[in-house]
Amino acid sequence: MTPKEKAFFDENGYLVIDNFASKEQMQQLRQAMDRIVEKFDENEHRSIFQTGPNKQQGDEYFLTSGDKIRCFFEPGAFELKDGKMKTPKHLSINKVGHDLHGLDPAFRAFSFSPAVSQLIYSLPYEQAAVCQSMYIFKQPRIGEPVDAHQDSTFLYTIPQSVTGLWWAVEDATKQNGCLWAVPGSHRLGNKSCFRRRKDGKPGTEFDPPKHELSVEGAVPLEMPSGSVVVIHGDLVHLSHPNTSEKSRHAYSIHIIETGKGVQYPAHNWLQRSDSKPFPVLPKPSA
Ligand code: FE2
Repeated sequence: MTPKEKAFFDENGYLVIDNFASKEQMQQLRQAMDRIVEKFDENEHRSIFQTGPNKQQGDEYFLTSGDKIRCFFEPGAFELKDGKMKTPKHLSINKVGHDLHGLDPAFRAFSFSPAVSQLIYSLPYEQAAVCQSMYIFKQPRIGEPVDAHQDSTFLYTIPQSVTGLWWAVEDATKQNGCLWAVPGSHRLGNKSCFRRRKDGKPGTEFDPPKHELSVEGAVPLEMPSGSVVVIHGDLVHLSHPNTSEKSRHAYSIHIIETGKGVQYPAHNWLQRSDSKPFPVLPKPSA
């Protein structure tokens, strides 16, 4: 980040960098995802991805996906009457996560590229680690909205240290459900933590909110393919449903500090079942 970009990020809680990656790189990610979807057996797992206050995700398939590559469907993908898929699987999946960066060679090479290191270490990270990755399809016509949230709710560290990177694999526009951000909202701090249940039963819950999130003043982040948006963990952001005929594919990774004595609580929903530490981004060479 240039000093001007850093000042914008500090003031607003996000920064869009146009043409961060090439169209060819985006195409490579898309092709890698095509291979993953092709291999996926849609009859084996039918986990639906849902967000929102009364729809928190907490099934076993989701909770053990931190070190795997798993597919989550759009709620509108299946017929209510007989449960049959309405469209082919490549048009029914909401997202794939959460360890593309560790397990797939194309996503690993992209996520740990020198350009990503350079960008992340221009923020005050000492030991930045990638804790999750997602490929989000925002399918034509059935792409669900994502309610206003802060990423620090879902990847909670003490103190807060999460930063999101979100690439437009395809052009993201208001029509196909681009991200919307509330400039400056990161300064209110973290609202809540999405956690494994306190009573030890399977599932998840939210800690009581410290304050309410407002979407007043939200601005659309329309981005051409290859652009990236850097998202402060406390930034309020959302996206509307995709009712258009065009998909809006995106790839995102989330970074946390694993140095400086920062803690990653065991009650976070995302835990690696193999007990390996989150992979650290190499520092850019001087
Ligand atoms: Fe987010």
